[in-house]
Amino acid sequence: MSVMWPQTLAFGGDYNPEQWPDDVWTEDIALMREAGVTMVTLGVFAWSLLEPEPGRYEFDWLDRVVENLDAAGISVDLATATATPPPWLVTAHPEVKPVTAEGVRLEFGSRQGYCPSSPIFRDHATRLTRTMAKRYGAHPAVRLWHISNEYGDHIAECFCDVSQSHFQRWLAERYGTVESLNDAWGTLHWGQIYDAFDQVPAPRRMPGPGNPGHALDWRRFCSDALLELMLAEKTVLRDVAPHIPVTTNFMSMFYALDYWRWATELDVVTDDAYPDPADPAAHIDAARNYDLMRSLGGGKPWLLLEQAPSAVSWRPVNLPKPPGVMRLWSYQAIARGSDGAMFFQWRAPRFGSELHHSTMLPAAGPDTRVFREIRSLGGEVAGLGAVAGSRVRADVAILLDWDNWWALDAAESMPSDRMRWRAALDPFYRAVFRAGITADFARPGDDLGSYRLVIAPNSYLLRQSDAAALEGYVSGGGRLVVGPFSGVVDEHCRAHPGGAPGPLADLLGVRVEEVWPLLDGDTTPVTLAENGAASAATWSEWLRVGGADVVARYTGGTLAGMPAVTRRAHGAGAAWYVSFLPQDAGPLLAPIFDESRSTVRPFDGVEAVLRTGEDAAYLFLLNHNRVPATVDVDRQGTDLITGRTVEGAVDLPPFGVAVVQQNGPGAHATNQGEIA
Ligand code: GLA
Repeated sequence: MSVMWPQTLAFGGDYNPEQWPDDVWTEDIALMREAGVTMVTLGVFAWSLLEPEPGRYEFDWLDRVVENLDAAGISVDLATATATPPPWLVTAHPEVKPVTAEGVRLEFGSRQGYCPSSPIFRDHATRLTRTMAKRYGAHPAVRLWHISNEYGDHIAECFCDVSQSHFQRWLAERYGTVESLNDAWGTLHWGQIYDAFDQVPAPRRMPGPGNPGHALDWRRFCSDALLELMLAEKTVLRDVAPHIPVTTNFMSMFYALDYWRWATELDVVTDDAYPDPADPAAHIDAARNYDLMRSLGGGKPWLLLEQAPSAVSWRPVNLPKPPGVMRLWSYQAIARGSDGAMFFQWRAPRFGSELHHSTMLPAAGPDTRVFREIRSLGGEVAGLGAVAGSRVRADVAILLDWDNWWALDAAESMPSDRMRWRAALDPFYRAVFRAGITADFARPGDDLGSYRLVIAPNSYLLRQSDAAALEGYVSGGGRLVVGPFSGVVDEHCRAHPGGAPGPLADLLGVRVEEVWPLLDGDTTPVTLAENGAASAATWSEWLRVGGADVVARYTGGTLAGMPAVTRRAHGAGAAWYVSFLPQDAGPLLAPIFDESRSTVRPFDGVEAVLRTGEDAAYLFLLNHNRVPATVDVDRQGTDLITGRTVEGAVDLPPFGVAVVQQNGPGAHATNQGEIA
């Protein structure tokens, strides 16, 4: 069953009124109305207040808060309140507290301090969830269930005995017999042949490197253990109040959880995004995360559920967002498919470990720069209702597979510990962004037929079936770019016969004879066709070409003169192999964008993304520059923010934004070809 998320733009944030006396609540509601708040997230950490003793509940305060909000027309994203177990629970059952790989049991006193596999925690959490669902499930203000909070943020794995037994059961289910586990992991190596599943440990601290198959299955298990816990709460919510959509807030591109699997269980994907104002590439990484959120939900609108109004308090140095940046970055999320912009949190707290985190309403009150910016954005968002429900259509896909990420990053004893998923992804994503191309993320086994171009920045772990799907994509006319260190191992981390790129060797027409990692700071020059130049950092490879054309060569170092990039025509399409990590993938990808007929609009600091609805398209223009910019627009429209007619060009102030509504034919266009 799938419950639809209503098609309006949400604006608001986490609200913790339990930390304040009632008279402040009245002021809160008045200021929320002033700021255009339409929804708040309630009760995330309220378990110990709602259930002060086992089975004794105090809902009176929450009843009143929900009533007040409803009366003011503000809807509620209601948490199941299970994100921090209450002290009475961990005191009565200390075994609920999680254990680290070193065997340290973590003490109560922060949040999220529970073992994901604990049946005791699960029973108590689902009991609270059921009680919450019964009490509030029929309330008209409750529009979204917020299950727990940021699963895996602090505790993504637990190494206690309960978790270990859970892992062993999970393995037994996956492998059936211990012989097939031995075979899958290759436990002949270093004499680790198991006789029974109950001999297999959680991978606690070991004397030396562990088995890669063991490490990979542990990562899969940890994601599944938390997913099981989330599903236990979801089942209760579906049982009691099935008409309310469910979510749990994701943490952008987060290592520990396979969000592809998680997202299929949610009615709406929601994200907590905290781009760093100190990072000059923050907007590019944010775009990447938003593209992922959209893709996780199959292209449906998602929701930015948390962002900082200004500074966070958990980096070593926390820079505020300069004037205009909170607005700009909120629109960036909306441009890339979010149906709203929400924040952490509404009011500045009086105590606790998030005292120094920025808030929508700062401690200095409403007469502040941050509140003024919030209020002004709230007013604008209220006028953008037409955008809700519209889609972002991309013609380029980037492959992301959590199994691959884990196999690459969790394994020890690798050729270089610098060769990591993010290190491989970044140069490719950044080049796509800087070419003005909007990309989706996809899995290697997905139907990729609708994309002009598919980029696999790294597929270290590649299943035979995924390789077959990629071959089918190319022979059907697709363009595929495969990055270095791909096709090395199968789904159990066993080497593909014949070496890399394993099951892609025929499609790509190359063999990797030897990998050639580079030391930090070292680069190797690469010459591209037509005198283009690139530069390898971190990684290069000694290739043997059989059947592919060489389109770039190394021109320095030990590999000088050897092939660096190849292209092989296959069926109606073509496949490229890039044997190194480019410092800048732009020059390398330029001819490939050309061949795949992807319209390039070089990024000059203005990001342009199109959302398309039933009757209109919405062109978002986002000026990330500290100086004004003028953007040519090839179709007439209306800027929904200013109400002005747009013809020919739009002038954007520093950090300025326009949302140009374009009616009529072409409104269903993709992100290719709409911008002059
Ligand atoms: C996360 C959490 C919030 C809060 C913010 C602070 O997103 O969900 O409770 O701690 O971080 O940035």
